[in-house]
Amino acid sequence: MTASLPRAAAFAGDEVGRHDTLNSNSATYTTAPADGSFLPGPVLLFGAPGVGKGTQAQILVSRFGIPQISTGDLLRQHRRNHTELGMIADGLMRQGQLVPDDLVNKMVAVRLCEPDAAAGYILDGFPRTLAQAEWLDTFTPECGPLPPTVAVEIRVDETLLLRRITGRRTCPGCNRIYNIYFNPPQRYELCDDDQTKLVQRADDTEEAFLKRMEVYRAQTMPVVPHYQGTGRFRSVEGGGSVDAVAAAILEALRELRTEFPVPSLTSASGVR
Ligand code: AP5
Repeated sequence: MTASLPRAAAFAGDEVGRHDTLNSNSATYTTAPADGSFLPGPVLLFGAPGVGKGTQAQILVSRFGIPQISTGDLLRQHRRNHTELGMIADGLMRQGQLVPDDLVNKMVAVRLCEPDAAAGYILDGFPRTLAQAEWLDTFTPECGPLPPTVAVEIRVDETLLLRRITGRRTCPGCNRIYNIYFNPPQRYELCDDDQTKLVQRADDTEEAFLKRMEVYRAQTMPVVPHYQGTGRFRSVEGGGSVDAVAAAILEALRELRTEFPVPSLTSASGVR
C-alpha cells in the first residue's frame, strides 16, 4: 500500500487485490477481506464484561487479517508503560470504572490513524458511552475519512459471566485468552503457543466485576439503541461454544453485508 494513499482508497482492498466498495452510499469506501471473503465495514463489538468480545475479535483478526483495537488492551499498555494516561486509568480500571471519554477518544483517534487500520479493524470495547459513540460518528481522522461501521452485540446470561471473568487467564506475550474452567491451557498456567506464564487481570475479581456490570448497565447499554437506529446492527447469543458464537457473528456480518450491499468499483467509479 502506498503511504500517501487516501485512507478510503486503502480500505478499497488494494493491499489484497480486491476492489469492493464498502456501502452503496459511499462509493469511495471499500473493504479489504484478506481471505477473499468480506466485511460490511469496520466492526464494533459490544457486550458486558466477559461476553467474549476479545475472544471473538481474535477470531475475526485471524480470519480477515485486520487489527483488533481493544481500548482495554490499549489502556493496559499505557499502564505498563507508566504514561500519564496509564496512571489516570490504573485506579479507575481496578475499580471497574470507565476512563474519561475525552482521554479514551484521543487514544482511539491516534490508533485509528495507524497504517494497519486503513484496511479495516475490529473495535473491541469502544464505544462504551453515548458520548464516545457520537464522537466516533463524527470523527474524521487527518489520515482520511473512515468508512461506516457495523455493530455486533454479544449477549450472555449474567450468571455465566462471573465464571468467565474469574476464570480468565491471558498470555502477556501473545495476548491469547484462556479460561481455567472453559478453555484451559494444555499445561497448567502456561500459554500453549509460547509457554509464557499466564496472568490474571487486576480487575477480574468478583467485586470489580459487579462494579463493571453496574457501569455497563448504566453507561454502555444506552449505546445499543444508538446503533439499532442505524440498522447497521446485529445482536447474537454468546452463551454457546466459542465456535458457535463465531459462526453466529459471521452470519450476522453476512446479513449486514447483504442488507448494505457493497457495489464494485466498476460501477462506482469505473475503476477496476
Ligand atoms: P476491557 O478490557 O474492554 O474489559 P471488558 O469490556 O470488561 O471486557 P472483558 O475484556 O472483560 O471481556 P471480553 O468480552 O473481552 O471477554 P473475553 O473474550 O476476554 O476494559 C477493561 C477496563 O478498561 C474497563 O473496565 C474500563 O475501566 C477501561 N475501558 C476500556 N474501554 C473503555 C472505554 N471505551 N471507555 C472508558 N473506559 C474503558 O472472555 C472472557 C472469558 O470467557 C475468557 O476466559 C474466555 O476464554 C472465556 N470465553 C469467551 N467466550 C467463551 C465461550 N463462548 N464459551 C466459554 N468461555 C468463553
